[in-house]
Amino acid sequence: MKEGMIANHPKADWQAVAGKEEAKKVIDELREAIRFHNYRYYVLDEPVISDHEFDQLMEALKALEEKFPEFQSPDSPTQQVGGEVQEALGTVKHPTPMLSLKTVYNQDDVANFGKNCREKLEKKSVLFVAEPKNAGSAVLEEKSVEFVAEPKYDGLAVEIIYEKGRLIVASTRGDGQTGENITANIKTIKEVPLVLLNQGEIPFPDQLVVRGEVFMRKDEFKKLNDERMRIGENLFANPRNAAAGSLRQLDPKITAKRPLHIFFYELVQTEEYHFTTHWEVLQTMSNWGLRVNKRYSKVCSGIQEAIHYHEELAERRDNLEYEIDGVVFKVNDLSDRRTLGFRTRDPRWALAYKFEARQMNTHVKAIEVQVGRTGVLTPVALLQPVKIAGVEVSRASLHNQSEIERKDIRVGDEVLVERAGDVIPYVVKPIKEKRKGPEKIFHMPSQCPVCGAKVIMSDDKKRALCTGISCQAQLRKRVSHFSSKGGMNIEGLGEKMAVQLVNLGLVRKLSSIYKLEKKDLLTMERMADKSVDNLCEAIEKSKNQPFPRFLFALGIPLVGVHLATVLAAHFPTIDDLIAANVEDLLTIKEIGPEVAFSITTFFSNEENQQEIFEMQNLGLTMSNPTEKEGGRPLEHMTFVFTGGLEQWTRAEAKQMVESLGGRATSSVSGETSYVVAGPGAGSKLQEAKRKNIPIMDEKEFIKFINKYQEDRNI
Ligand code: IVH
Repeated sequence: MKEGMIANHPKADWQAVAGKEEAKKVIDELREAIRFHNYRYYVLDEPVISDHEFDQLMEALKALEEKFPEFQSPDSPTQQVGGEVQEALGTVKHPTPMLSLKTVYNQDDVANFGKNCREKLEKKSVLFVAEPKNAGSAVLEEKSVEFVAEPKYDGLAVEIIYEKGRLIVASTRGDGQTGENITANIKTIKEVPLVLLNQGEIPFPDQLVVRGEVFMRKDEFKKLNDERMRIGENLFANPRNAAAGSLRQLDPKITAKRPLHIFFYELVQTEEYHFTTHWEVLQTMSNWGLRVNKRYSKVCSGIQEAIHYHEELAERRDNLEYEIDGVVFKVNDLSDRRTLGFRTRDPRWALAYKFEARQMNTHVKAIEVQVGRTGVLTPVALLQPVKIAGVEVSRASLHNQSEIERKDIRVGDEVLVERAGDVIPYVVKPIKEKRKGPEKIFHMPSQCPVCGAKVIMSDDKKRALCTGISCQAQLRKRVSHFSSKGGMNIEGLGEKMAVQLVNLGLVRKLSSIYKLEKKDLLTMERMADKSVDNLCEAIEKSKNQPFPRFLFALGIPLVGVHLATVLAAHFPTIDDLIAANVEDLLTIKEIGPEVAFSITTFFSNEENQQEIFEMQNLGLTMSNPTEKEGGRPLEHMTFVFTGGLEQWTRAEAKQMVESLGGRATSSVSGETSYVVAGPGAGSKLQEAKRKNIPIMDEKEFIKFINKYQEDRNI
């Protein structure tokens, strides 16, 4: 393939494609171009076109495949997003067993391995020098063995078989002889080519069996777990479990949503090819489009150099984007490998030199409860300090009551603690056999350790929230939420200002906002006369914000924009709502027991009630809207949301549109009035641009909604 030709492939003008023949040609060209750019992007990490240009190629291909379904193909790049649902993972017999590696932890054992290799191979040279021509010199020469040193990835080993360059089957290691069939899942990983590239001097063989490691990056793992925590799913213990769990899904659509990566590191049945070294194999695999780790793989001359490289990588370990737990040394010369051969379960030509353990045993001295800025209570284990791979660890998050119960961690327990790179240390498990009796079962407190307000716990025990409206741990966040655009909409009182006001002691509870005086505000940094006047005016204006907004602004746990509107529709005044009990609330369709409990707990808190009365006294009207005639201003409008929203959830944004008479749909069409695009927006945004549909970001959308709500006096 000519690099320049494909790299500069003109954007296919698919609309101009007339006949079938031309369509087939353009589809093939587009597929080739996209495969090439995937390779540049995922394998070489050197893209030659922008993401936007790439998206255009992809869109053109999708459109053509839709128009000419007869040319659709399961290995088209468009199919690499999530496949069919399969019944259960079947099994795959490996063409040759997937062996493991001999593992060592110290330099002496590594040096021994080096010595053994050299001795065995020198035996070979002795035989070899029996040939008259080389006699003498080679016998005495101490030839050092060359090793390729590669990171030992802490992921999941996989085997992929390509036939005539097409991905046929992928499997896990399983018991070494037979693995699980993960073909549909592996195909969702963008870094895995469905079709190999024929580049470089060596063409790929008819049947190619390659092995590698699938993994999740540390930052992606953290993000995934944060999200799982937010929605109350069980957490993955580490990136390896997350990768394995994601790859073993029955539904590849789930795998497709998980950020997975791969490094290929071995090619099976090398005898059939004419490679002389492993290094050459790695370079060639890369040419075929298989992602190998060029950056951190190294040819080392002799075992000492390999040991040195291990030290180097050990130091860099924490800074790598992914987890590695050691370095693998492999004899580079493939004929030497054949000489060395195998033991029962592992090859004699390779060795895993692991890093210092990341896990240590220690004791849980106590469990402390922290209150986050959003009112979430998190239990933290206070540990007998212990050094884990050079870093002292004395605390570990226990996440929530449910996790503590699931792992059965008790105060006083001896526990296994793991520190995985920059991920916060965590307790893997208690050592139950070492219990002596006085270990104590932990319960989340029923009162907030910071403000003493009642704590509400979700039924699944995964979330505990403080209900104190003036809790100091959450005040900054509460103030900025209160004044946000979806709440009381106080212009000029954003997050930064909220932090300053709280830090300076000018705001100690929400009602303080309405007691701020001009002279106080003038003492603040960068607040001149004009901006102070503007802020005072905005605060004053917010007093008339309608009831649903006030309810949302209070930040009652589990009450978002939509529920605030529902509550305001059922309870004419705040006093009616304060007086409501759980049974009253449960008569409302949208409200379940957890939400009802949260609302009554919030309002039964005396301090919270006082705050509300105080704000009433300060002039907040909290008046319920009366719908004006023709109050469906978005009646004929259709919205599409794409990408992330920060201020509201998707469901809330949708509810807002619907409450104003509009519609929210999931795909962009000729009927779409607006596309609201947030970070990460992809094809829908492109589609909107192509169709010239107006696009707004979240801020603009909220402004837009606010305007209609104000007109309607909601
Ligand atoms: S080569 C016969 N290379 O380590 C040698 N393995 O204990 C085959 N692993 O299950 C393996 N990084 O998942 C090889 N650069 C690397 C590796 C690696 C991690 C894993 C692999 C295997 C285990 C062997």
